[in-house]
Amino acid sequence: MFASTLVGLLLSSMTLVSAAPSAKRAPGPWCSNLGAGAFDIVTNFTLAAFNVDQPNANNTGIPLVLGQAGAIDGAEFKILSTFASFPFNDYPSLSMQAGAIFAHSPSGNTAVNSDVTGAGEKPGFIQTTPEPQPPQIYCAVASTDPHGGGTGFPVLAVLGDTDSFSLCPAGNFTGAQTSVVYKPEVNATSYIFDQCVPVHLQIIEAQ
Ligand SMILES: *[C@@H]1O[C@H](CO)[C@@H](O)[C@H](O)[C@H]1NC(C)=O
Ligand SMILES: *[C@@H]1O[C@H](CO)[C@@H](O)[C@H](O)[C@H]1NC(C)=O
Ligand SMILES: *[C@@H]1O[C@H](CO)[C@@H](O)[C@H](O)[C@H]1NC(C)=O
Ligand SMILES: *[C@@H]1O[C@H](CO)[C@@H](O)[C@H](O)[C@H]1NC(C)=O
Repeated sequence: MFASTLVGLLLSSMTLVSAAPSAKRAPGPWCSNLGAGAFDIVTNFTLAAFNVDQPNANNTGIPLVLGQAGAIDGAEFKILSTFASFPFNDYPSLSMQAGAIFAHSPSGNTAVNSDVTGAGEKPGFIQTTPEPQPPQIYCAVASTDPHGGGTGFPVLAVLGDTDSFSLCPAGNFTGAQTSVVYKPEVNATSYIFDQCVPVHLQIIEAQ
């Protein structure tokens, strides 16, 4: 009886030891300089845009989906658009694996993130076969502000930057497809710079 208790103790301590490394896995270089709250694996989430300058209706923010951004033979391109301006949620589940984002459709299609290299770009996704190896450029950052504040949701970073996303309409009219732009540029032709609003991209993890 004593022996079996000892075996049980040994087994449970072995389980603890073997579980520790994955729980404490350090995130990759795409999370550099983002502090202790940075992590780069999220199993099932959606994104929502939280306006950083104006009052929001709630702490979650405006729901985002993969909006259309054109297609060629054999490949579809997507951008992050508000569900209000692009009311189709074809990829209702996102996952992040080591800095890459995968968007999953109920029918089993997967779109993967494409690269973001600088100002004025719309963070994009591509769905094609075979599935490309996505660039590892994203990171999740939990709020570690000791004074509280914030909304409690982690935010998305690209290129080590959580603070340079905006929502910008594609045209100057009501209902224009409104999408995420990284560091909008005044001379842009594919969105109305004057109507961009700075946002944080909040990571809403599935319960
Ligand atoms: C939060 O407010 C936005 C409008 O800004 C709305 O679209 C969204 O559904 C709301 N989310 C929740 C969880 O109530
Ligand atoms: C958008 O439209 C409004 C009203 O028609 C106009 O006053 C404004 O100058 C336009 N802005 C841009 C950037 O085209
Ligand atoms: C806008 O201006 C910047 C800096 O001059 C330039 O690098 C960029 O290519 C321009 N973008 C567009 C869409 O014209
Ligand atoms: C993600 O979470 C939602 C809500 O719990 C669930 O319905 C869905 O099946 C999950 N998707 C995946 C791919 O795990």
